Amino acid sequence: MSTARTLPVWKSIDAPPGGWSVPDKAKSLDVAVVGAGIAGLTTALSLLREGRHVAVIEREGIGAGETLRTSAHLSNALDDRYYTLARQHGKDGARLAAASHAAAIDWIESLCRDGVHDCGFKRIPGYLFTHDGDVSVLQKELEAATEAGLEVAMIDAGARAPGMLGPMLRFEHQARIDISAYLRLLAHEVRDAGGVFVRAEVAGIEGGSPCRIALRGGGTISARTVVAATDVPVHDTNATYMKQAPYRSYVVAGAAPSDLADALFWDTGDPYHYIRRYRDEDGADWIIVGGEDHKTGQDDDPTAYARLHEWTLERFPDAGPFTHAWSGQIIEPIDGLAFIGADPDHDNVFLITGDSGNGLTHGTLGGLLVCDLVQGRDNPWAGLYDPARKPVRAAGEWVRENANAALQFRDWLRPAAIDRTDEIPLGSGAVLRRGVHRIAVYRSGDGELHAFNARCPHLGCVVHWSSEEKSWDCPCHGSRFEASTGAILNGPAGEPLGRMELKE
Ligand SMILES: Cc1cc2nc3c(=O)[nH]c(=O)nc-3n(C[C@H](O)[C@H](O)[C@H](O)COP(=O)(O)OP(=O)(O)OC[C@H]3O[C@@H](n4cnc5c(N)ncnc54)[C@H](O)[C@@H]3O)c2cc1C
Ligand code: FES
Repeated sequence: MSTARTLPVWKSIDAPPGGWSVPDKAKSLDVAVVGAGIAGLTTALSLLREGRHVAVIEREGIGAGETLRTSAHLSNALDDRYYTLARQHGKDGARLAAASHAAAIDWIESLCRDGVHDCGFKRIPGYLFTHDGDVSVLQKELEAATEAGLEVAMIDAGARAPGMLGPMLRFEHQARIDISAYLRLLAHEVRDAGGVFVRAEVAGIEGGSPCRIALRGGGTISARTVVAATDVPVHDTNATYMKQAPYRSYVVAGAAPSDLADALFWDTGDPYHYIRRYRDEDGADWIIVGGEDHKTGQDDDPTAYARLHEWTLERFPDAGPFTHAWSGQIIEPIDGLAFIGADPDHDNVFLITGDSGNGLTHGTLGGLLVCDLVQGRDNPWAGLYDPARKPVRAAGEWVRENANAALQFRDWLRPAAIDRTDEIPLGSGAVLRRGVHRIAVYRSGDGELHAFNARCPHLGCVVHWSSEEKSWDCPCHGSRFEASTGAILNGPAGEPLGRMELKE
C-alpha cells in the first residue's frame, strides 16, 4: 500500500537490500528512524557513519511515501522565491537557506559519485519563466537570489522552454536524478554501514529516556533517540500541523520531444507548472510535467491530468504519447522552509517535516542537520529550521491557512449530497448522513460496501472522497485514508478511520 494508487514513472522498491527484520530483533535501540523516504534514509546513513546503531522502521517499502512520487528536480532555486524568503527570514536567513540546499545537492552528488551504481545524477541549469509576461517578478527574484548567493542571470530566449520568447532567469548548478536508483543506493549504503530495516507501522511515539515507540497491532520498541521522518508527524505532537498546509500535486510523463533541453523549467504561476527531461536506465527519454496543485480534500478535480496534457501540448506539440499520470502530497510550510530539529513536545525525538516542492533537498539537509543535533554538534542551519520557531513574519499566511482549515468544519452542518448507498457507483465513495453521524461509504469494484466513521481521527473534520486517488482525504490538515480499509495513507492523523455498521 503506497500513499496513492496512481503509478509514477519511477521503479518501485519492494524490499530493502538484505530484507526486513522483525520488530522483535529491535526491541531496544540506540537510534530509531521512522520512515524510509529520502529524509529517513539520509538521517540513518549520516548517523551510522558517526558510529551509531540505527534501525529504520517503515510500514510499507523504501520510498513508498512521497519520495517515489516526486519529479526529482534538485534545486536550490527555491519554489517560494528568495524575495519572499528574505522578507520572512531576513537576508542572512535566505543566504543560509540557499547554502543548505546547495550543500544537500553536493551531498547527493558525492554519494552518487562514489556509489555502486549510476543514479542518473547530472548537473543542469534551471530556468524560471513568466506565466503571464510579467518580467518584474523575474527582476525581483534575480536581485534577491543573487544576494542569497546563487549564480543566476537574466537571459533572453535560448533554451527550449515554454514562454521561450520572453526573458528567463537561468540558475546554474541545479541537478536531476533517477530517484528510484538513488533510493536503492541509499538503502544499500545504510545496510552496508550496519543499519537494520524493520517492517512495522508506528502507532505512537513517547519521548523520554528512553523513548517508547508503540507499534500498530501490538508491541513496543524503545530507543535512546527517535527521528520521525514520516513526511508529516503521525505521533502526538502539536509542533507543526498548524504551521504547514497539505496540497495535492499532479504529474504526467511521456516520450520527450527531441528538442527539449536537459534542464529544469518552472514558471511563475500560482499554482505553477514545471518541466524536466529524464533519461531512464533503459535509455528512454521522458518529458515530466507537473503542477495544478490544490489543497488536499478540497476541489477534487479529475481533470487535472487533462489540463497538464493540454498545457504541455500547447508548448510541445510533438510531446508524448503520455503513459504515466500520478499525484502526490506536498506539505507547504507557511514561511517557506521545512521544520527540522527537536520535537518541542517530546524529549529525544526529532522531526523532519514541511518538505514543500523542494522536499528532496529539504529531506537531505534534514538528515544532515538532525545528525549534528543528535551528536550534540552546533549546526548553522539549526535556528532557521527549528520546528519550535514562530513564523511571525508570515502571520498573514498563517491566518489564511488556519481560517481555511477551520472553515471546513461547516461540513458538519451541510446536508449530504446523496442519501442512499445504491446511488454510489462501483469504485466510488460518498459521505452519507445518519442522525448526528457522517458515514464514509466506498463501493469496491466487486460491489461490496465499506463503511467508516467520516470523522477524521486527527481533529474531527469530515473526510471527502477523492475520485482521482480513490481515497478519503481530510480537507483540514491533509490526512488521507485508504478506501476499503480506512488505513492511514498520510498524517497527521495517528489512527485509521473507524469502521461503522451501515444501516439503510
Ligand atoms: C508530485 C510531487 C513532485 C515533487 N517534486 C519534487 C522535486 O522535483 N524536487 C524536490 O526536491 N521535491 C519534490 N517533491 C517533494 C519530495 O518528493 C518530498 O517532499 C520528499 O520525497 C519527502 O520525503 P520524506 O522522506 O520526508 O517523506 P516520504 O517519502 O513520504 O517518507 C516517509 C516514509 O514514512 C513511512 N511512514 C509513514 N507513516 C509511518 C508509520 N506510522 N510507521 C512507519 N512508517 C511510516 C512512509 O511509508 C514513507 O515511506 C515532490 C513531491 C510530489 C508529491
Ligand atoms: S487532518 Fe486534521 S482534522 Fe483531519
